Amino acid sequence: MKNTLIIEGGNPLNGQVRVSGAKNAALVLVVASILADGETILDNVPRISDMEYLLRILNDIGVKTRWQDDNSLLICPPDGDLKTRTSYELAKRLRASNLLLGAMLGRQGEAVVSLPGGCDIGSRPMDLHIKGVQALGADVKLEHGYIYAYAKNPGGNRVYLDFPSVGATENIIMMAVRTPGQSVIENAAKEPEIVDLANFLNSMGARIRGAGTDIIKIEGVEELQAGRYAIIPDRIEAGTYMIAAAISGGEILVENVIPTHLHPIVAKLQETGTIVEENDRGIMVRGNGRVKPVDIKTLPYPGFPTDMQSQMMALLSTAQGSSVIVENVFENRFQSVDELKRMGASIKVEGHTAVVEGVNRLHGAKVRATDLRAGAALVLAALAADGCTEIEEAGHIFRGYENIEVKLTSLGAKLR
Ligand code: UD1
Repeated sequence: MKNTLIIEGGNPLNGQVRVSGAKNAALVLVVASILADGETILDNVPRISDMEYLLRILNDIGVKTRWQDDNSLLICPPDGDLKTRTSYELAKRLRASNLLLGAMLGRQGEAVVSLPGGCDIGSRPMDLHIKGVQALGADVKLEHGYIYAYAKNPGGNRVYLDFPSVGATENIIMMAVRTPGQSVIENAAKEPEIVDLANFLNSMGARIRGAGTDIIKIEGVEELQAGRYAIIPDRIEAGTYMIAAAISGGEILVENVIPTHLHPIVAKLQETGTIVEENDRGIMVRGNGRVKPVDIKTLPYPGFPTDMQSQMMALLSTAQGSSVIVENVFENRFQSVDELKRMGASIKVEGHTAVVEGVNRLHGAKVRATDLRAGAALVLAALAADGCTEIEEAGHIFRGYENIEVKLTSLGAKLR
C-alpha cells in the first residue's frame, strides 16, 4: 500500500489543475440514491478511498454499484428491502457511514447504524441526528455500539438543531423526503453540499425548499424516480491547491470551481497578500512573496471552513508576523501542530486557539499525517520547505484528494 509520500520542497508550483467532485457531496449523494426507485447515475464522483469504503458498505447491505467510466457511478438498489445493519468493521473506517441512518429510515423505516468510534479530530457525537429522526417519529435505542431506529408511523415535524450540523441536517432531509407531511429544520447547516443534496433529491421528485438558508422545509413524497446528476466541485480541494500556489510562490489556475463556494477562502488568502483573480476558466492564484499574518476563526458555512484550517495554518507558519487561529467547530483539530513544529514552525496552542509565529523558512523532516486535512497541511508545508519531507501514513490524504500525486507532479512538485 502506498503509505509514505516523499516531497522535495522549494520549487514554485505552476500550471493548471482541475478540481474533482466534492468528497462531502459525493458521499451523501451516493447514500441518498438508495431513496429512489431505479438506477441512479452520478457524474463527477471522486475516486478516493473514502468513496471505495462507502461503496463496500453499500454493496454489503445489498446495493449494486458499478463505475461506468472514470468518474461516473451507477447505483442500483434492489426492489426489495436492503439489509438493515451496517457492519461495524466497515463503518468504523468512515464516519459518513452514519448517513445511512436517515436514508434507511426514509427508504424502509428501519436502520441499524454503528455508532462512530473515537475520531482523531475530537468527539463526534450523534445526538442531533438522533433528535432529528426521533422528531420525525423514529423510536431509537442505543445498544451494543449500534443505533437501532424504527419508524412505524413517521410524520413530518419541526426540528431545531442546537448546532448547524452538516451530517444531522443531511440525515433529517433524507428521512423527511419520504416521510408524510411537512418537516422543517431550523438552524440547518447551509454548506454547499447540503444544497447539492437538496438539488439532487428535488431532481428525482422530492419537495425541498430553503436549502442553503437556515430554515429548510420538506414536503414528504411517496416515491422518488432515479435519474442522472453531476456532483459539485470540491471547494476544499480547490482551496488546498490555491494555498499550494501561495506557499510555494508559484502561479496556479484552479479550474472547475464554483467561485461563490470559495469566497471565505479567497477573502482570507487575499488578506495574506496573495493575488487571487477570478476568470472564465477558474481562479488564478499567484504567490506574492512572504505572506502577511491573518487571524482565522472557523465557523459553519459561510464562515471559514474547519476543513481548510490546517492548510491555512501551514501557510501562516511562513508568514511575516504572528496569526491567531481559533477552531470553533471541532474540539481537537490542531493535530498538525506538532508535525509542523518538526519542520521548524513556531506554534503555541491553548485550548481552541493557536498562535502561529511565522518563520522565514520551513525545513524538510520526517512527519506523520494524523488525519486527512492535517496530512494536506503537511504536503503544503513540504512544498515550501528546504530539503526533503517524508510524510508517513499518507493514506489519510488519499481518503479525500483524488490523484493528488498526479496533480501535484503536473504542477512541478517533486514527489514520490
Ligand atoms: C461534515 C464534513 C466534515 C466537516 C464538517 C464541518 C462530511 C462527510 N464531513 O462532518 O468534513 O469538517 O461537516 O463542516 O460531510 N455535533 C454534535 N452532535 C451531533 C452532530 C455534530 O455535537 O449530533 C458537533 C460535532 O461534534 C462538531 C460539530 O457539531 O463539533 C460539527 O459537526 P458536523 O457539522 O455534524 O460535521 P460532520 O457532518 O460530521
